[in-house]
Amino acid sequence: MTKVTWLGHASMAIETNNYRILVDPFINGNPAAAVKEEELNADFILVSHGHGDHVGDTVSIAKRTNALVISNFEIATWLGNQGVRTHPQHIGGGYQHPFGYLKLTQALHGSALPDGSYGGNPAGFLLTTLDGKKLYFACDTGLFGDMRLIGEEGIDLAVLPIGDNFTMGPTDALRAVKLIQPKHVIPIHYNTWDLIAQNVNDWKATVESETAAKVHVLSPGGSLQLE
Ligand code: NI
Ligand code: MN
Repeated sequence: MTKVTWLGHASMAIETNNYRILVDPFINGNPAAAVKEEELNADFILVSHGHGDHVGDTVSIAKRTNALVISNFEIATWLGNQGVRTHPQHIGGGYQHPFGYLKLTQALHGSALPDGSYGGNPAGFLLTTLDGKKLYFACDTGLFGDMRLIGEEGIDLAVLPIGDNFTMGPTDALRAVKLIQPKHVIPIHYNTWDLIAQNVNDWKATVESETAAKVHVLSPGGSLQLE
């Protein structure tokens, strides 16, 4: 069983085969945060890129929980210098972790770290769980045609940004669904601030009328369980 919880903005929690994984845990300073930082537990933390709304509280959560942080080489080095346990990967590279096979995918975005350090290239994550489910976290990105290649792997769940301005907006996120052809979609990275406000129910209706995907509109704290 795999359960995916939206913690608000772009922060996700994955529970799979008794492993607890956080993606881009940004709690302090996140007006949409559904939890308190000290309530979060993790065995692994995935960091997609260097921006503050994604690195977020990674350092303090990793130090408190001793979670292993997986990110690109540059961010892993930056976190390692702060005493965090890390596993570096890079785009196109996959690794069999205890919780599943995790591959970094390309993302069209930036990645400077909060202190101005070079954060390498931004990434998304493609996770194949131990029971064979494929979860694609596009993370912060614009639309790109090679989403079609990711879709060829057979995606059970795609987690896509729809907020516009900093990432894909609703129109391009619909095109992304058409390229990826996932069974399920969770929209994220919207409504955190006015700048990325979107009508998610309109988007769900459009996607479900034009594609075979089922859109799960979660409230921060809400979950989707993949059987
Ligand atoms: Ni970003
Ligand atoms: Mn962001």
